[in-house]
Amino acid sequence: MIAEIMYQTILTETKNQIFYITIDREDKLNALNIQTLTDIKNAVLSIYHDHEVRGVIITGRGTKAFAAGADIAEFANFNVEEGTRMSEEGHATLRAIDNCPKPVIAAVNGFALGGGNELAMSCHIRVCVEKARFGQPEVNLGITPGYAGTQRLAQLIGKGRALEFLMTGDMIDAQTAYQLGLVNHIVPADQLITKCEEILNKIKNKAPMAIASVIRCVNAYYEKRADGNNVEINEFGNFFGSEDFIEGTKAFLEKRPANFRGN
Ligand code: COA
Repeated sequence: MIAEIMYQTILTETKNQIFYITIDREDKLNALNIQTLTDIKNAVLSIYHDHEVRGVIITGRGTKAFAAGADIAEFANFNVEEGTRMSEEGHATLRAIDNCPKPVIAAVNGFALGGGNELAMSCHIRVCVEKARFGQPEVNLGITPGYAGTQRLAQLIGKGRALEFLMTGDMIDAQTAYQLGLVNHIVPADQLITKCEEILNKIKNKAPMAIASVIRCVNAYYEKRADGNNVEINEFGNFFGSEDFIEGTKAFLEKRPANFRGN
């Protein structure tokens, strides 16, 4: 087994062939700053070839949030180049999860908003608690999703529903997410990790090469849409030169509604 590595923003542990990743920024509702993305990416990549690990569970610390999105305080002052780099790192992290040869389950313990929902969607399976809330509220900040949300949401719930979700920025509850096919299971909070372990324990009995192949084959179907990812990275980066982006992020940090002018 590969020795556990220490990370700055996440906690990791391997137990009974399951690798646990916990986002450890509870006071910021586990908002994903760039360091967190990099930590998650490195942690996931570290178990790709570890034969002792047969599955991964990603969750957020505490009972309130899985992840409340990208870290608005961090990116509020980014320019176009930094915004583009941020999106590229998000895409790279979530691709590392999606392409992981072992099953990855998102244990959604609360808010999964923006980058948090995108992180959950990059996992192969999603299990959530009854009080989980999902949304892509980026339009409230004057931007679009930047971590493949425009791509994976349409794949998971269909184009029409995805467009409504992305354009209204509405937050939906666990039951609605289940009906839309955004989550696989809803469980009481004290059974969240147990349910994820139960699924992984079942998969653990199958041939690892067959499981890796299932993941590769299903992902291959969506690869032809890869251009959409580049469109999203460019669009996202360009927002960092707009007035509405400055107004949107400023309004969030000042805890007031945004006044968008369309430039
Ligand atoms: N980035 C940075 N900080 C965030 C954050 C984010 N995405 N989401 C929450 N936080 C911080 C808050 O600023 C606050 O920090 P403070 O205590 O230093 O002021 C702390 O986490 C607690 O959040 P708060 O807003 O006070 O909690 P709440 O219960 O009133 O509201 C939410 C919860 C999730 C509805 C609200 O935090 C929210 O709307 N977050 C942003 C969601 C979003 O737009 N995500 C997409 C980003 S691209």
